[in-house]
Amino acid sequence: SEKLLMLVGIITISTSKVKDPESDVSGPTLETLFSESKVLKDVKIYRRDIINDQMQRIVAHLESFATNGCDVVITTGGTGFAPDDVTPEATRKVIQRECNGIVQALINRSLAATPMAALTRLVAGIRDHTLIINLPGSPKACKECFEVLEPILNHAVDLLK
Ligand code: MTE
Repeated sequence: SEKLLMLVGIITISTSKVKDPESDVSGPTLETLFSESKVLKDVKIYRRDIINDQMQRIVAHLESFATNGCDVVITTGGTGFAPDDVTPEATRKVIQRECNGIVQALINRSLAATPMAALTRLVAGIRDHTLIINLPGSPKACKECFEVLEPILNHAVDLLK
C-alpha cells in the first residue's frame, strides 16, 4: 500500500558535537535537504538528535527510532577509521537485513567526489519496517549522498510497508 507520509529520523553521532551542539552542521543540513525536497513525498522529521560515539547509546537510539515508526533513519558521523568510530558496528547490531545496493550507490557517488570516500565504512539495512542508512560526518558528504538517496527513497519506503 502507498505511504502518505515519510517519517524521517536524523541522528548526528559525534562526541564533540554533543559537547558543542551549535557546531553540528550536518544534522541541520540533512533536515533541510529532506524537509525541502520536491521529490520525496510528505516528509515529516520525527526527531533530530546528537548522540555520543558509544555503541550502546547508538544501538538504543536506532532501536527507539525504529520502534517509534520511523520509515527512514539517517545517521551522520562515526563511520571512519578513528578508534571511537563505531556507528557501522552499532548499526549492524540493529538491522536484520543489509542493503548493499544502497551502500554501493553511496560509495560510487562519494568516490566521484573524493578518493577519501574509501575511508568510510558506512552500513545500510532494514529493521522491521525501518530503513537505516549511515552517512559520513561532513556536510559535504551528506549533500553528495543525498543526491543518491533522493531518487530511491519513495519507492524504498513503499516496499517496506
Ligand atoms: N563521502 C563523500 N561523499 N564526501 C566526502 O567528502 N569524506 C570521506 C568519507 N566519505 C567524504 C566521504 C572522509 S575524509 C572520511 S574520513 C570518511 O568519509 C569517514 O567520515 P566520518 O568518520 O565522519 O563518518
